[in-house]
Amino acid sequence: EVFQEISGLLKKEKLLAHILGIQRVIIVPGNLEDDSNVKQLIGKEAVSFLIEHAKNDDFVAITGGSTVAALADFLAPVKSVSSLTFIAARGSIGDELELQANTLVSQFASKSHANSKTLYLPEHLSQTAYETMKKEPVIKEIIDLYEEVHFVIHGIGNAKEMAVRRHTDNEIIAILRDKQAVGEAFGYYFDINGEIIYQINSIGIQLEQVKNSRNIIAVAGGANKAKAIRAYFNIAAKHTVLITDEGAANAILEG
Ligand code: BG6
Repeated sequence: EVFQEISGLLKKEKLLAHILGIQRVIIVPGNLEDDSNVKQLIGKEAVSFLIEHAKNDDFVAITGGSTVAALADFLAPVKSVSSLTFIAARGSIGDELELQANTLVSQFASKSHANSKTLYLPEHLSQTAYETMKKEPVIKEIIDLYEEVHFVIHGIGNAKEMAVRRHTDNEIIAILRDKQAVGEAFGYYFDINGEIIYQINSIGIQLEQVKNSRNIIAVAGGANKAKAIRAYFNIAAKHTVLITDEGAANAILEG
């Protein structure tokens, strides 16, 4: 029975990869909306993938979020990860300190005895502040590093949920609603076709830089992210590996 369950998942992985137009999908059993351990399983798979594919001295950009946070428990100072440099892919987000990229970067680095680079900035900046900040040497250093990132590990959000979490202005919420945003990644909000509707003015890795990195892992699960995941893969690089759960996988396959 266990074997059948596993082979069923493998079939789903292949099918989902085909639908999303990518090479590899890893599905963990369960739905993280019902069982918080499922997020941990995603984190565990992501760490295994990282250990297997990271090269010495790689720069690894990570976003925040509870799914990326789930990697922390599985990181240890094994050889292939202790030479890495974890870099915050974005400035901070709202007030959820424990889920911010910066916090995770420090945590990941200390767990794996690796290096870290953080970026402390408000998530929302005015256009003027944004232009000025970009020229600050400490910030420019990180922006330049984004050009050289080898590995990206990121979450995918449900657009509505992320807008709420970020205490987004009503004006922007209205744009997201009118243009039917379904998903969000790296501060880009997009509709079901992957059309970018809105991008947060914040210092962070750009989609093109993500695409240029050698390895990309997207971690996202739960049926309520099915549309967001589906939509994101219209803009994602084809070599992105999706690590998800059955909850999201079934919803995408049925939808
Ligand atoms: C955020 C990332 O921190 O986490 C977002 O910047 C992503 O791009 C989000 O959408 C996902 O969060 P969670 O908690 O659903 O994994």
